[in-house]
Amino acid sequence: MKKATIAVLRGDGIGKEVAPEAMKVINALADKFGYAIDYVHAPLGLEAYRLSSDTTPIPDETIAICRAADAIIKGPIGDDKGDKAPAGIVEKAVIAIRREFDLYANLRPCKIYPGFEYLSPLKDEKVRGVDFVIARENVSGLYPNRGRFEPGEIGEFGQDMAIYTRNDAHRIAKVAYDLARQRRKKVTIVAKKNVLASSRAFAQYAEEIAVQYPDVTTEYNHVDAVTMYLMSKPRDFDVILTTNMFGDILSDQAGGIMGGLGLAWSVNIGEKTVMYECVGGSAPDIAGENKANPLAMILSATEVFRYTLKDPKPSDLAQTIVQQILEDGWRTSDIARDTPSDKLLGTKEMGDKVVEFIKGR
Ligand code: IPM
Ligand code: MN
Repeated sequence: MKKATIAVLRGDGIGKEVAPEAMKVINALADKFGYAIDYVHAPLGLEAYRLSSDTTPIPDETIAICRAADAIIKGPIGDDKGDKAPAGIVEKAVIAIRREFDLYANLRPCKIYPGFEYLSPLKDEKVRGVDFVIARENVSGLYPNRGRFEPGEIGEFGQDMAIYTRNDAHRIAKVAYDLARQRRKKVTIVAKKNVLASSRAFAQYAEEIAVQYPDVTTEYNHVDAVTMYLMSKPRDFDVILTTNMFGDILSDQAGGIMGGLGLAWSVNIGEKTVMYECVGGSAPDIAGENKANPLAMILSATEVFRYTLKDPKPSDLAQTIVQQILEDGWRTSDIARDTPSDKLLGTKEMGDKVVEFIKGR
């Protein structure tokens, strides 16, 4: 029996509902494939902030629990039902956990499942078959030093600094190229090298990795052009390799293309651990009502087999099953249409449905 311990940071709002569904599904896969998974819970975000005496959204104990575990599952954090998160705590927690565990590679897939073109604001024929992944550099660039905003010699000003070292770019590029090899073998490097030195560095260093992958096609595009191409020809993309800031922006655009974040999931890869995360927010308006869509959390968390346990089979099965469930018309309300073929499920029932399908295999 192969064992693993997962730290679960269920987060705020709907995080308290979707994280348990993901655990349910992992357990069903673990039973089927011979794993024993233990979970250790720890607070992150608003809940942590409310609980801790020194009002931090990311307590030392949470870090220690994550460090002792083999992997981390993180739910959405932020506002909760009737409880607004103080400004800045979400950003603080998210950026701190990425830095603490050096989670340098953030993979955010954008996939239009067959029959789900209706969710997208783009025309059906444009989005049919869209399937790309954004490989976002996740700890460097403009993000880490948080800048300054103060009066100075030139009057009041705000300043940030973007730095890309060769190592920063090399390690995310390797993840992107390895991923492309498993997919349609195309990488689009995205930056703004006509203007920014940090972008020139990022692109040049990324191209040093590209030559080690002659079987993968490489193209470069400026980020402004890519925002347009994502609208006009989103099917052209396979792996988008980009900087922290541009990856942040493009991944929300990718959510827009999918028509929402209910199916938007991600993995954050570090040298020593991997954090599995759904991209959507804590949705305080529907929290506690068994309405949230658990599929993004499930799709993300079940990648633990692929990335942490180095066994892609259970992860592949989870992906296939979610696709099957969607093809069969099972929906949570965020992705449902008012048609007879759409069968509405609550959060728990959707989790049960995935488990039922796993057991049926
Ligand atoms: C994201 C978020 C974060 C980011 C915020 C909350 C710091 O927007 O995960 O995309 O900017 O990376
Ligand atoms: Mn973002």
